[in-house]
Amino acid sequence: MAKPMSSFVLLVLFLILFFHLSLAIPVTYNVLSLGAKSDGKTDSSKAFLDAWSKACGSTEAATVYVPPGRFLLGKVEFKGQCNNNDIVIRLDGTLVAPSDYNVIGNAGNWLMFEHVNGLSINGGTLDGQGAGLWTCKKTGKSCPNGATTLEFSNSNNIFINGLTSLNSQMFHIVINGCNIVKAQGVKVSASGISPNTDGIHVQSSSDVTIMNSRIGTGDDCVSIGPGATNLWIENVACGPGHGISIGSLGKDQEEAGVQNVTVKTATFTGTQNGVRIKSWGRPSSGFARNILFQHAIMNNVQNPIVIDQNYCPDNKNCPDQASGVKISDVTYQDIHGTSASEVAVKFDCSSQYPCSGISLEDVKLTYNNQPAEASCSHADGSVSGVVQPSSCLLQ
Ligand SMILES: *[C@@H]1O[C@H](CO)[C@@H](O)[C@H](O)[C@H]1NC(C)=O
Repeated sequence: MAKPMSSFVLLVLFLILFFHLSLAIPVTYNVLSLGAKSDGKTDSSKAFLDAWSKACGSTEAATVYVPPGRFLLGKVEFKGQCNNNDIVIRLDGTLVAPSDYNVIGNAGNWLMFEHVNGLSINGGTLDGQGAGLWTCKKTGKSCPNGATTLEFSNSNNIFINGLTSLNSQMFHIVINGCNIVKAQGVKVSASGISPNTDGIHVQSSSDVTIMNSRIGTGDDCVSIGPGATNLWIENVACGPGHGISIGSLGKDQEEAGVQNVTVKTATFTGTQNGVRIKSWGRPSSGFARNILFQHAIMNNVQNPIVIDQNYCPDNKNCPDQASGVKISDVTYQDIHGTSASEVAVKFDCSSQYPCSGISLEDVKLTYNNQPAEASCSHADGSVSGVVQPSSCLLQ
């Protein structure tokens, strides 16, 4: 009697263990099982939303799985609050925006995550199909503004790994009102003459990290808007594009400042700017302070180092006042390479609030194999190490 009894006990123990283990594996929702089609032609929005609401409703960690193939999606909003803080979206496939740009062109964004806490997006490609809209904008016809490809709004603990964004209508990735966001291994690719296709835009957000990413696009590779604090950008290759830019600031009279930004180890190739801070020439409560640009290589960059407080693209409707944006404690350290224009270092600061605490350390920029030039207006600061072109900062 004793023997069969103990095997029965073993079997029960085994079953308990088996179910325990299977529960520990996060539940996975495959969009194909929920009706998505990988043909790139059938709108799969509903299947993706179903997968999201199941993952978001789960009280345990959950995964949304997107297998290889092309999935056509219209505007989709993935909304929290969720019942768990551990959702993974695993993308082996490509998400494709509608080929007619009018479908999402006035929707603000294409794919939007809002009020989510604890989300990883791993792999995958987003194809914004923006080329038609860029052409429309170039003809000067009336065209929709265009949609941001991927936006995170009012969300926390977001991890983006190895995501590729192609040919966005407007911005590629926007991080707005978020805390603790880590983007790494991101690739952004769009034509160098595509309008307003910023790579990654960060604003009103803290503790955002962007690492090991390659961005080539028609506007800023990374743009940093009001209210960005504790931002870390490391090992980014930029080009084509307009560089890594803080601003435009001072768009509004009442505006949050930008504080504690580090840009470390960046390469700029054939870009319009390298590291830039820009503000409109009008009164504002805004500021930019505690900024470090460290270890940058410039390859044939139009404006490698620039602060422009009279920012006014196309010289249309320029406010032409002194900028209220206060710029202070900006360090440029170990910045080398070639400028595509004679003036490689330009500090055009506010006459009302001169830039202060600008520090140049080991900066060497050449133009046509000659030392480049520097130009300063209302800029105070200091120099250490070898600095070429020689500084024009007021000590
Ligand atoms: C500045 O931001 C970094 C993250 O980018 C953070 O580690 C550091 O503590 C912040 N410094 C201050 C003084 O807040």
